[in-house]
Amino acid sequence: MNGVVLISGSGSNLQSIINNSDDINLTIDCVISNKANAYGLQRAKQVGIPVCTIEHSQFPSREKFDQELSNVINTYNPKIIILAGFMRILSTEFTKKYCGKMLNIHPSLLPKFQGLNTHQRAIEAGEKKHGVSIHFVTEELDGGPIIAQSTIEILDDDNAESLAKRVLIEEHKLYPKVIHWFTQGRLKFKNNKAVLDGKIL
Ligand code: GRF
Repeated sequence: MNGVVLISGSGSNLQSIINNSDDINLTIDCVISNKANAYGLQRAKQVGIPVCTIEHSQFPSREKFDQELSNVINTYNPKIIILAGFMRILSTEFTKKYCGKMLNIHPSLLPKFQGLNTHQRAIEAGEKKHGVSIHFVTEELDGGPIIAQSTIEILDDDNAESLAKRVLIEEHKLYPKVIHWFTQGRLKFKNNKAVLDGKIL
């Protein structure tokens, strides 16, 4: 299955997807970043994947940026659009266009801690558990149907950094697994629900 990956930063999830791409039957046609200095672009180049930067600051509105993003994405006709640390809120029009084939990874146990600074907020809230969620992207920010989660314990001496590190380890295992379900045709989006092997998740 061919797809595109959208990033904004380090791209460690992208790396994990690249490393597993043969096993999960995914061809990454292009890695698109909204930031020219995103390290993930180097990771893609190192293995010969085409890259594209669309600086959001060059566009007068969210809609105009999303339009250009959409133009680039459509040149590849991707069957899956993978958001991997893509730190932009997407317009409703954009999310509707790709509904059912766009996945996102979010570093919290959704619906808890949507938005930013999830690790710090989980610690401050006195949570005992934390983790990562992968969901279909809908117009609701971090609110689309959840496909899978991994949970870890929050330790007494954890800070946001130590927690982020352990959550990332889980992210790198979970995202390729979920993408594989999708490329195998086992994972679908039906009636606003995530469905795996015919069963609502
Ligand atoms: C990850 O924690 C991801 O869940 C969040 O942003 C971070 C991106 O990390 N959305 P990386 O760029 O994949 O290293």
